[in-house]
Amino acid sequence: MQRAIQLGAEGSRAVRPNPRVGCVLVRDGVVVGEGFHAVVGGPHAEAVALEVAGDRARGATAYVTLEPCNHFGRTPPCAQALIAAGVARVVIAVRDPHPEASGGVETLRAAGVAVTTDVLTVEAGDLAEVFLTGVRHRRAFVQLKTAITADGRVAADDGTTRWISGPQARLQVHIWRAEADAVLIGAGTALADNPRLDCRDLPQPATHLPVRVVLDRRVRLPLESHLAETTAQRTLVITDDFAHATSSHAEALRQRGVEIVRVPPSEAWLADVLRLLLQRGLHHVLCEGGPTLATALWRAALVDRMDLILAPKLLGSGTPWLQPLGLTTLDAARPLRWTGVAQLGDDVWLTARPR
Ligand SMILES: NC(=O)c1ccc[n+]([C@@H]2O[C@H](COP(=O)([O-])OP(=O)(O)OC[C@H]3O[C@@H](n4cnc5c(N)ncnc54)[C@H](OP(=O)(O)O)[C@@H]3O)[C@@H](O)[C@H]2O)c1
Repeated sequence: MQRAIQLGAEGSRAVRPNPRVGCVLVRDGVVVGEGFHAVVGGPHAEAVALEVAGDRARGATAYVTLEPCNHFGRTPPCAQALIAAGVARVVIAVRDPHPEASGGVETLRAAGVAVTTDVLTVEAGDLAEVFLTGVRHRRAFVQLKTAITADGRVAADDGTTRWISGPQARLQVHIWRAEADAVLIGAGTALADNPRLDCRDLPQPATHLPVRVVLDRRVRLPLESHLAETTAQRTLVITDDFAHATSSHAEALRQRGVEIVRVPPSEAWLADVLRLLLQRGLHHVLCEGGPTLATALWRAALVDRMDLILAPKLLGSGTPWLQPLGLTTLDAARPLRWTGVAQLGDDVWLTARPR
């Protein structure tokens, strides 16, 4: 299953709205087929592995990171394909919560195939996290990225912020942008940094540029900001306020190609925004906002993955990357699991996900 997860990770944003899935077929202790889902509309991981295995699939065990689909979507059902190929046993990491595709386990069992579920569920869940978040919570997946000093600051007392991290870490951020469907910031970052949020550091021009989304309730994004230069990349400004959404400044931004969208105020406004983004086909959101937005996302339990880039610098003062979450005792601390640690040049990159 570990190998199947590794294969599934070869899938990229090209699979969306589908999940990333990997499959390994083993007979008599020998791998006879492998595959992963590479592109939406293309063959599923099971179909690829079965094709490689050919007749050797008969009597084999299939290790699949997600329950084989049970319906005719863009491709025929994988549960039937496994049965037709004579696979004896199927080991599954994660059950498919999608109402149309689920039921593969029952179909396999009814055909006499032995089925084992819940193997490496957490790891395989991370592989399919963008898909699972969309299906389970009906909102976009949020990856929160922050570059901090070793003492957790995002800005010095004088407001300077560039650069905390080094060139390799910044390149990694551009790789994430190209993998995400949208990059999200708050008005504070838009005004303080005038960012471009593009992928210019990539060695080759990105085939896809993420939509730039600014949470800007008062619609203050300056006309002459980089984000309002929308020729190559779309910019979406989101407000909750009717008057600001229809102001003359908003109109001038629209004239430049910026889209202004109003999401009505609510208790769960940020979740509503993420729901809207998913409805627009933006499944994976990379948040590069400042401490205000990061805190609001954590408070609303809307962070699905956190990437901290830790620079070998100390300030001892300045702006902390997170504001109080209203948790006053250690027992209340948000439990995380570290899921990655690596060095990027002089910086350390840590990935965590909520437990
Ligand atoms: N090191 C890093 O990785 C990094 C990343 C980003 C920013 N920064 C630094 O952080 C500083 C800016 O911090 P910031 O906290 O002001 O930036 P921010 O979190 O990106 O923006 C905050 C603003 O977003 C708007 N907003 C809209 N909806 C919101 C909601 N539901 N919850 C929270 N905010 C919402 C608010 O303005 P309205 O009320 O007007 O809508 C709010 O003031 C800058 O110095 C920047 O350089 C550092």
